[in-house]
Amino acid sequence: MKFFIDTANLDQIREAQALGVLDGVTTNPSLMAKEGITGRNNILKHYVDICTIVDGDVSAEVIATTFDEIIKEGQELSELHEQIVVKVPMIKDGVKALKYFYDTGIRTNCTLVFSAGQALLAAKAGATYVSPFIGRLDDISTDGLNLIAEIRHIYDNYGFETQILAASIRHTMHVIDCAKLGADVMTGPLSSIEGLLKHPLTDIGLEKFLADYKKGN
Ligand code: E4P
Repeated sequence: MKFFIDTANLDQIREAQALGVLDGVTTNPSLMAKEGITGRNNILKHYVDICTIVDGDVSAEVIATTFDEIIKEGQELSELHEQIVVKVPMIKDGVKALKYFYDTGIRTNCTLVFSAGQALLAAKAGATYVSPFIGRLDDISTDGLNLIAEIRHIYDNYGFETQILAASIRHTMHVIDCAKLGADVMTGPLSSIEGLLKHPLTDIGLEKFLADYKKGN
């Protein structure tokens, strides 16, 4: 399972990278705005800065919503750095663009996916990644994890190569449940990754080991 961090915060990306388990980064316009990154040139520079910190794929989202504009913007983003994956929304022109990018060798992440049908369409169009937003489904009393299971089932039925990128992860249990269900990738906040470290018995055990060592030395 690949671990992506879902942020545009460079310090958090550095911290996750330093842990040695980071495989990539996802961003979106809201995450960019949260870091105060505004203006086209600053946003493009920020993507390159992220690429210099991590070794893996970095999703950069298009703002355009029409086919021609998505293509233009996606090409510009993909030329920024070889690690860039163009993030395209699940809309009609987005699906057309996914197919275009597939045919021209540009890697994509189909975002804002909330149903198995949308995920099937993304795979048919040749998306590299599909991003089902599980946290936002949970927010409206719909089982986000069930969507991961449905997509896994459908993709395995037909051998689709599109990778399931479980997105809108909110906490550590989401990560563990997505791993059980066979999601290829998860993207979440740093806290969802660091939460995997924690167990009180580890802390108690370590404290005891160190105390016992001190007794004899
Ligand atoms: C995915 O790529 C999105 O950036 C993200 O996971 C959305 O998460 P949110 O629902 O916490 O905003």
